[in-house]
Amino acid sequence: MSWLTRMFSSTIGQKLIVALTGLFLCTFLVVHMTGNLQLFKDDHGMSFNMYSVFMTTNPLIKTVSYILYFSILFHAFKGLHLAYKNMKARPVGYAVVNGKANSHWTSRYMGILGTIILVFIVVHMNDFWAEYKFGHIPYVQYTENLESGEITAKPYADEAGNPKSIANKAEETIVSINGVDHKITITKDLYAEVAETFKNPLLVALYLISMFAIGFHLYHGFQSGFQTLGLNHPRYNPAIQFLSTWVFAIIIPAGFAAMPLYFLLIK
Ligand code: HEM
Repeated sequence: MSWLTRMFSSTIGQKLIVALTGLFLCTFLVVHMTGNLQLFKDDHGMSFNMYSVFMTTNPLIKTVSYILYFSILFHAFKGLHLAYKNMKARPVGYAVVNGKANSHWTSRYMGILGTIILVFIVVHMNDFWAEYKFGHIPYVQYTENLESGEITAKPYADEAGNPKSIANKAEETIVSINGVDHKITITKDLYAEVAETFKNPLLVALYLISMFAIGFHLYHGFQSGFQTLGLNHPRYNPAIQFLSTWVFAIIIPAGFAAMPLYFLLIK
């Protein structure tokens, strides 16, 4: 048996992979939230749309995406399986008497919080990721005045107003209009899809509830991942505690929650 097969088949090995995939997913969330902040830029969604093109065409990021899909599936299903095995193995009296005294409540609800997040990810990927890759997102044409920086946007359509598409994910050309250079960019308008989706208050409510679940899940999960990997040390524990509270339980969920609220209430 190779070390990899042994790792996947032993409980200790599976716990380690749940911890590693969990910490990898934490990193993904930092990148995803930071990248999505471009939704707040006042440029008709051009930066966000070009960022989406980069994220879906860059070969390195495409490869990392496959690790991401594996991580989501392994972490969710094996995490739930281990939580179920723990629950069955633990005598009820012990859990009732000592549970509250020994652990933060989030650690006892990781399975439920994780399940809410899994449902969220399925709905979320169906709305945006699947729609972007396999659906029919219309194209938008941006014209950027390279002198003044002014950007205008219009649907990419033929003279009769029928939507047109392009072979690549984005096309950029420089043209001269009245002697001034302009950059013409044609790309899928994922920004409009995001804006449209977040006009639905029920969906926004699902996002907000899910962000609470993510905050609580990560608050415990981030610290616990380090502990499982044996990387807890009195010298680093305060930093890990700080990151799990401020970055993962507060900034990341609040940043994500601001996006649907922005489109529902402001934009
Ligand atoms: C609430 C704010 C959020 C917005 C506006 C947002 C937006 C998007 C968009 C537009 C995509 C598709 C773009 C692409 O394929 O590159 C996407 C993909 C994805 N999102 Fe989000 N997202 C948000 C929050 C989250 C959260 C909280 C999670 C995880 C818990 C998440 C997980 C994912 C995953 C796994 C993908 C697929 C990424 C890939 O294919 O590489 N998103 N998101």
